[in-house]
Amino acid sequence: MTLGIRSKLFLLSLGLIAVSLASTYAYLRPTLDEVISSRIESDLKVRLRLVADAAQAANLSLRELRAWQTTARRLAPLADARVTLLSADGVLRGDSEVAEEELARVENHASRPEIREALGNAIASLRMESATVSVATRYSATLRQRMLYVAQPFAAADGEPAIARLSMPLVAIDRAMGKLHLALFLASFLALAVAVVMSSAAAHLAVRSLRLLTTIATRMAQGDLSPRAEPGPSEGDELAMLGRGLDKLAAKLTAALAVRRDFVANASHELRTPLASLCSAVETLRSASQRDPQHVERFVEIIARNAERLHRLVEDLLDLSRIESPGFRLSMVALPVEEIAQHVLSLFQPRAESKQIVLTCRLPSPAPHVLGERRALEQVLSNLLDNALKYGSAASEIVLGAEVIKQTERTMLRIAVSDRGPGISAEHLPRLFERFYRVDTGRSRALGGTGLGLAIVKHLVEAMHGEVGVESTVGQGSTFWFTLPLSER
Ligand SMILES: Nc1ncnc2c1ncn2[C@@H]1O[C@H](COP(=O)(O)OP(=O)(O)OP(=O)(O)O)[C@@H](O)[C@H]1O
Ligand SMILES: [Mg+2]
Repeated sequence: MTLGIRSKLFLLSLGLIAVSLASTYAYLRPTLDEVISSRIESDLKVRLRLVADAAQAANLSLRELRAWQTTARRLAPLADARVTLLSADGVLRGDSEVAEEELARVENHASRPEIREALGNAIASLRMESATVSVATRYSATLRQRMLYVAQPFAAADGEPAIARLSMPLVAIDRAMGKLHLALFLASFLALAVAVVMSSAAAHLAVRSLRLLTTIATRMAQGDLSPRAEPGPSEGDELAMLGRGLDKLAAKLTAALAVRRDFVANASHELRTPLASLCSAVETLRSASQRDPQHVERFVEIIARNAERLHRLVEDLLDLSRIESPGFRLSMVALPVEEIAQHVLSLFQPRAESKQIVLTCRLPSPAPHVLGERRALEQVLSNLLDNALKYGSAASEIVLGAEVIKQTERTMLRIAVSDRGPGISAEHLPRLFERFYRVDTGRSRALGGTGLGLAIVKHLVEAMHGEVGVESTVGQGSTFWFTLPLSER
């Protein structure tokens, strides 16, 4: 049989409470017994002292034996105990629970421990009132039950020592303790009952939050990301933390799904335009090929251009998905920045010349080495130079510059590509590095752009532990920059 978490919590807390109650009871019981019996004993001693005083005041004489018995009888109801008076020889002279005619038959008490001790005390102390009290518990042959005895000496007539003794049946004490134990047991039972109710309620509360979280997790697993745990019934405990974690997970999944949806929509959209051009060009070509050979060349040209565009788009998409895949790692080595920059610039030289643009390289000399991957750095520089040439103004200058900057943790090389183009207005700047984001979609498409170039730049730079950024003033130009860590050597 498997127990639910609620039953487990409940049984566990119940077990703990029962154990703590039982140990409290086990500890309290002997302590209570001791407290009660010493209370009863000291109470009996106080009464004994009063009885001894009263007996002394009665000035009892061995010549007047009846007075001993009447005094014992008189004092017993006042002391609420059996009162016994003995002469110094240990002979019973008066007893509240022995008939006068029986007295002579009762055996000599001198050997009883409390009497023997009291007699010893009587002889030792000249002043009777400071005499100490002797205590004994034993079986009374006279009354046939276990009794508690207290005895002390007092002065009879002519200063003769005598003994006063009080006794009480132990059953009375046992009865008092029994009552107390019952009260203690009932109190424990009541506490247990209250604890049962409260721990059941606590288990119920805890399980309610857990059930809610389980429902949410199950629905998430089924693809429904809308339910949220917050604000939950419990504030600030572990379950609330779990709920917040689930909420964050759901929010992240929702965002990731939205990004994927947008990406698929954008990619499909980008693919559709050149594909439609291709299809219609092929169609036209088919019908026109016999009648109009001149047209053929124009349509082959359209097909070639769109096929090329599709090819670039697919290449970019493949690059992006490779860079974004979780296992993507670049093998970082020390790279000669100057050599790589010169190489990339030389590739763009013909295009620059055709637009009468001057490409200038302004690197610190000697240019330091950076940590990165050669192909990635070449692609980043190419994408930025391609944009600068595409969007920059003809007959102007493009500068590739670099400077060493100190950051809190390490020293970086900040590489920048600046153009004197139309610039980009501020509202676009934060989104430029998003996939498919373009300031002027029509112009970018016309120039053969897919809107993926800067997204690839950002991912590659971040994979090399750098950052990217852009500064631009409308009418003056744009500067795209990125940083790379300096190599140690
Ligand atoms: N130097 C620049 N000057 C002005 N606008 C720029 C510059 N560089 C980029 N942009 C703007 O940023 C947008 C995104 O650039 P990105 O390089 O990501 O895409 P693209 O150049 O359109 O296409 P691709 O680079 O994929 O061929 C561009 O469409 C353009 O509007
Ligand atoms: Mg580009």
